[in-house]
Amino acid sequence: MKYNVTDAVVFITGASRGIGRACAVAFARAGARVVVTARSFDELQSLAKQLGGSCVLPIQLDVTDAAQRELALRQARQRFGRVDVLVNNAGWATFATVEKTPPEHIERMLSLNLAAPIAMAQAVLPEMIARGSGQIINISSVVGAQAIPRMTVYSATKAALTSFSTGLRMELRGTGVDVINIAPSSTRTDFFEVAASVDVEATRIAKTQYSPQRVARAVVGASRRRKREVTLSLEGNAISLMRRCSHRLADMTMYWIARFGMPSK
Ligand SMILES: NC(=O)c1ccc[n+]([C@@H]2O[C@H](COP(=O)([O-])OP(=O)(O)OC[C@H]3O[C@@H](n4cnc5c(N)ncnc54)[C@H](OP(=O)(O)O)[C@@H]3O)[C@@H](O)[C@H]2O)c1
Repeated sequence: MKYNVTDAVVFITGASRGIGRACAVAFARAGARVVVTARSFDELQSLAKQLGGSCVLPIQLDVTDAAQRELALRQARQRFGRVDVLVNNAGWATFATVEKTPPEHIERMLSLNLAAPIAMAQAVLPEMIARGSGQIINISSVVGAQAIPRMTVYSATKAALTSFSTGLRMELRGTGVDVINIAPSSTRTDFFEVAASVDVEATRIAKTQYSPQRVARAVVGASRRRKREVTLSLEGNAISLMRRCSHRLADMTMYWIARFGMPSK
């Protein structure tokens, strides 16, 4: 049975720009009510203005802060009564070898890319389980299935997030709550500019880029069809398949992609 996105209350982290913002637009166009959160409140307000009216609630939220998470969820429930769909989207990366990755960057990636999505899921699960419906959508990455050098720590956080999706899905079997793992490949957002680079150039995988709107369409489609896993891009699927056949071949391919990039679309 399909999931009814229309009228669902969708709570999105990292909605001020990029994939999160595009998801907010796509869910709102599908008839959902959206709670858009991020640290940049001005951006959220402009998004709310763009979407118009009562179906959007902007909330300033640093998702790594437990007190802010609790307050944001309370505000969302006060306004819309519930949270039906959680989109764990906020994320950040450092381009660096493991040797050169500063400890505070490791902390930041672990808390933002992994601990925060887990905490958000824990916070919304009781109401979803009680209602017998709901969705946790985790925006992971193709590098969660096959790490890329000089983004190794980031890749590790996304691998852990993907694993979290898999385990949580099994735990929730029979509850009516879906867990959907989305693995975008390189997407045209500010991600590569906002990322920190230590001693290395931003990996040239950034050359192959998809639009955030395309990712958002895939997210809303996966929500409707209650998909488990979506890997965006042929390259992403190819590398996952390659890894199943030969770890050595997959490692070599990612090594060369990180070193020389992929042809532009
Ligand atoms: N772009 C890609 O190539 C790509 C590929 C695969 C996966 N992904 C994943 O897709 C997701 C979205 O990335 P994007 O490409 O849209 O990147 P982006 O344009 O840099 O957007 C990141 C979003 O996360 C928010 N954010 C960052 N730190 C936050 C914090 N502490 N608390 C709350 N929000 C925070 C940012 O808003 P504020 O700064 O306003 O807080 C922003 O809205 C990430 O999880 C990323 O890992 C991206």
